[in-house]
Amino acid sequence: MKFSLLLALVLTVTTASAVDFKTQIAPIFRNKCYACHSTTKKVKGKLALDDDKLPEQIGAGKNIIPGEAAKSTMWVNCTLPDDDGDVMPPEGKNKLTADEIELFKAWINEGASLTGGAAAPAAAPAAAMLPAAGGVLKWTNTEGKTIEAEFMGLEGDSVLLKIPSTGTTHILALSKLSAESQAQAKAAVK
Ligand code: HEC
Repeated sequence: MKFSLLLALVLTVTTASAVDFKTQIAPIFRNKCYACHSTTKKVKGKLALDDDKLPEQIGAGKNIIPGEAAKSTMWVNCTLPDDDGDVMPPEGKNKLTADEIELFKAWINEGASLTGGAAAPAAAPAAAMLPAAGGVLKWTNTEGKTIEAEFMGLEGDSVLLKIPSTGTTHILALSKLSAESQAQAKAAVK
């Protein structure tokens, strides 16, 4: 049984990231679209992207087709070349960054939920990272995925972590952990 593989799976499952509309998508609309598509300002092309108007744009045959970014006019228009007459924002002024385009796409492909989506885990304040005996700590791997587990000890170059929800102990190579988590493990043995 490969414990490190198991833990890697746990790391993947517990942090399956979903794009959060409120914190990740609405701000893009506010910054890049509201000037022309908000009832508080102007409603060009009869398109309002205010939170309460957005549901009208989501659905089969509408501007946002859940699960199908590539067929969603709203997303496609944001990816057009600057000189395309349909590019949004027009003429590519204040256009979406590559990251915003990816987030927007992921949000639509995940179902364009206005309420769902797990916000990214908030960065733990430094004090919370201090090992507390028997306490549950946050552990991040080199891929930036985080789990909460109890520190059980170091064994050679591996750390033993107990997942509270399952009560199982896993062995993970220190080298697979972020620098902070490695330091946390070393501090915990002292
Ligand atoms: C500077 C003003 C301006 C900004 C900023 C802007 N738009 Fe537009 N948008 C327009 C105008 C004007 C139209 C109508 C174009 C037409 O009908 O030919 C339009 C039309 C659209 C349409 C087509 C609506 C339809 O149903 O036909 C979509 C989709 C759209 N905009 C999305 C966006 C998105 C998403 C953003 C932000 C990333 C954005 N727009 C930012 C001016 C703007």
